[in-house]
Amino acid sequence: MFSYQEILQRVEQEISNLSFNTPPENLFAPITYILSLGGKRIRPALTLIACNIYDESIDSSIAPALCIEVFHNFTLLHDDLMDQADKRRNNPTVHKVWNENTAILSGDAMLITAYRLMAGSPSTHLKEMLDLFTVTALEICGGQQYDMDFESRTDVTEAEYLEMIRLKTAVLLACSLKLGAIAGGASANEADHLYQYGLHIGLAFQLQDDLLDVYGDTATFGKNIGGDILSNKKTFLLVYALKHGSPEQKNELYSWFENKTFDPAEKIAAFRRIYDDLRVNEVTTNQIEKFYDLAGQDLQQLNVSEDRLSVLKETADLLLNRIS
Ligand code: IPE
Ligand code: IPE
Ligand code: MG
Ligand code: MG
Ligand code: MG
Repeated sequence: MFSYQEILQRVEQEISNLSFNTPPENLFAPITYILSLGGKRIRPALTLIACNIYDESIDSSIAPALCIEVFHNFTLLHDDLMDQADKRRNNPTVHKVWNENTAILSGDAMLITAYRLMAGSPSTHLKEMLDLFTVTALEICGGQQYDMDFESRTDVTEAEYLEMIRLKTAVLLACSLKLGAIAGGASANEADHLYQYGLHIGLAFQLQDDLLDVYGDTATFGKNIGGDILSNKKTFLLVYALKHGSPEQKNELYSWFENKTFDPAEKIAAFRRIYDDLRVNEVTTNQIEKFYDLAGQDLQQLNVSEDRLSVLKETADLLLNRIS
């Protein structure tokens, strides 16, 4: 079995072997740019790790893993444009270094490249993997649309929020794991349990991302803090505050939604004060814990010995910042 470090090294090596050196420069340079800025590489790592649970060789999972990472980076190009985000992985976003049209078109080229990578897989399970990837990619578009639709709504329920993040974020982690399991020859039942596990880890992960967008540190988060607040994103924190806040707190939030000419730092500070008063940090952390525990139960359904799951557990713990 490969260690977590070995898995990450293999992912980095395979990504650096991808070449986008053909002209036109302005189409392909942004792809090299975003892929070379790093990131956690959590999704391709999960694909390799899931494969390695069932197969000593991880070679059959390389193509789907690369497909998923290129696809993920494509979603970031378009997401940063949609979210008007200036910073990603501690560097200016593609639409800032180049321009908006570049982010759209290089993103499109990445989506196509993702399909090409998957199609190049020698696996006998290629059809099944392509079908899963396609369904997942469409679900993510749906999640991103809900995310945008919710910006202009004030009545988003917790259930609607959870469905939105299931679609925009969790299904890709779940898909990454299931692709690895399929490549590794796991039974359908095993692959489905890993998919469920990925969904739960993915929900916890997006909740944590929402939390870090308010309470994180720019240097480690790599993105500007408060971006969700500025664009009225219905994060878990805001959905909670809109439900449990006092009438005064709710009115203050509503008036910020209406205000189009605000000082960004002032708006972020105002939301934070309300979140602090309502102890939203604690409530969100409890939710993260809940989904982490559900993920743990999914792992118990697997028909493999405990030691084969050690790297997967280590990865999830690192992802959700829990070493013990
Ligand atoms: C960012 O994903 C998008 C979300 C789903 C929150 P990651 O936090 O995995 O981004 P990188 O790839 O590590 O930069
Ligand atoms: C991530 O949502 C979802 C996708 C990129 C598909 P966010 O908009 O919260 O991600 P970040 O915070 O910009 O990474
Ligand atoms: Mg975003
Ligand atoms: Mg977004
Ligand atoms: Mg975010």
